[in-house]
Amino acid sequence: MKVTVDPDRCQGHAQCWDLCPEVFSLDEEGHAVVTAEAVPAGLEAKASRAAANCPERAITVSPALP
Ligand code: F3S
Repeated sequence: MKVTVDPDRCQGHAQCWDLCPEVFSLDEEGHAVVTAEAVPAGLEAKASRAAANCPERAITVSPALP
C-alpha cells in the first residue's frame, strides 16, 4: 500500500500525524509529509484511518505496485 499527500489540498489539520505518526510527519509549516510512502503491512490500517480522517481529503491511498 502506498500513500501520498496532495500539498495543494493539505491545510495542516494534522489528523494524519496524530493518527499515524509512523507514516506521516509535519513540515515546519505544519503541512503533512509522508515519511513511509510504501506503508509497512502492520501499519496499513492506521494509515488508512488517517487518510479517511483528513478533512481536506488530501491523502491518497493506493495499492502497492506488484
Ligand atoms: Fe494535511 Fe490532512 Fe494531514 S489537511 S496535515 S493531510 S490531516
